[in-house]
Amino acid sequence: MKNWPDFVQIKEVAPRDGLQNEKDWISTDDKVAWINMLSESGVKEIEYSSFVHPKWIPNLSDAREVGKRIMKRPDVFYSALVPNKKGLEHALEGGIDGASVFMSASETHNKKNINKTIAETLPVLRDVIHEAKQEGKRVTGYVSTVFDCPFEGKITPEEVIRVCDQLFEDGADDISLGDTIGSAVPSQVDQLLEAVLSRYPKEKIIMHFHDTRGMAIANIMRSLEYGITRFDSSVGGLGGCPYAPGAAGNVATNDVLYLLHGLGVKTGIQERKIQEAALFMQNKLGKELPSKALAHYVSTA
Ligand code: HMG
Ligand code: MG
Repeated sequence: MKNWPDFVQIKEVAPRDGLQNEKDWISTDDKVAWINMLSESGVKEIEYSSFVHPKWIPNLSDAREVGKRIMKRPDVFYSALVPNKKGLEHALEGGIDGASVFMSASETHNKKNINKTIAETLPVLRDVIHEAKQEGKRVTGYVSTVFDCPFEGKITPEEVIRVCDQLFEDGADDISLGDTIGSAVPSQVDQLLEAVLSRYPKEKIIMHFHDTRGMAIANIMRSLEYGITRFDSSVGGLGGCPYAPGAAGNVATNDVLYLLHGLGVKTGIQERKIQEAALFMQNKLGKELPSKALAHYVSTA
């Protein structure tokens, strides 16, 4: 019995979520070449960098230069992470189709990650959303720690909805729900999606799974059964929030494509090009990336 959509849209987040968590500096030339490879894969959206404070995320301190130098294909949507008005100003200079604002459903993680309480964050993001919309940009709101917080433990769907309501009210076009520490199992996905989808259209919800415990593919499968058609993933399985202890990489785009294409779900993405882009960064970083599909590709090449 088929119980999943025919088409899924992937947002490739490795240039942002992936590189923000690496200690080694990747040169601007290499970032640009890598993002250009990703642009040629058929992926329809790339989060190319982050306009946060360079002291907080040193590896992405060249976001503006990267934004100016990448070849922006007209059929690819280029977005970037933006924490506040200063970040938006820089992102507009770098060039963006969309801004991704972010906050956490958990008070403690929010404070550790962006140095503000939830109540202090909301007006900052409201200003960013309004200004970005005035500039004609789409705005995605990331909500982190939607299942568990590394400091507070379980987060309830009500806590998540409280933040989502506010972001939608302030004008966010869609929301990406983040399993920041990769702790959820499918029954938690059931609980959250039942609450969220009784309130918002499924087209406005994106799922963002980290794969710390190898549960992300199971959680994506469960999300597909709810009709979710938008997922964030990262080439090779790079990723993680440096301000969430224990957070490992995002689910690998390579593995997600293996699942989706095997199910007969179309993505428009060429798996081989994603494998090659993963190998490019694996060589630059000089370490094996976590993707299982990548390991298989390498072993059979
Ligand atoms: P702050 O220190 O509280 O900022 O940091 P502030 O507003 O008090 O300003 C202090 C100074 O920083 C000022 O400079 C500002 O101009 C400057 P001064 O006047 O002292 O010379 N400043 C900036 N400079 C450059 N770019 C900016 C910027 N903003 C202020 N954008 C801030 C607050 C939010 C900036 C900081 O906490 C920060 O950058 N945090 C980012 C942390 C981060 O990137 N975490 C990872 C991303 S989130 C994630 O990975 C989760 C996600 O993937 C979903 C999931 O998995 O759940 C999205
Ligand atoms: Mg993330």
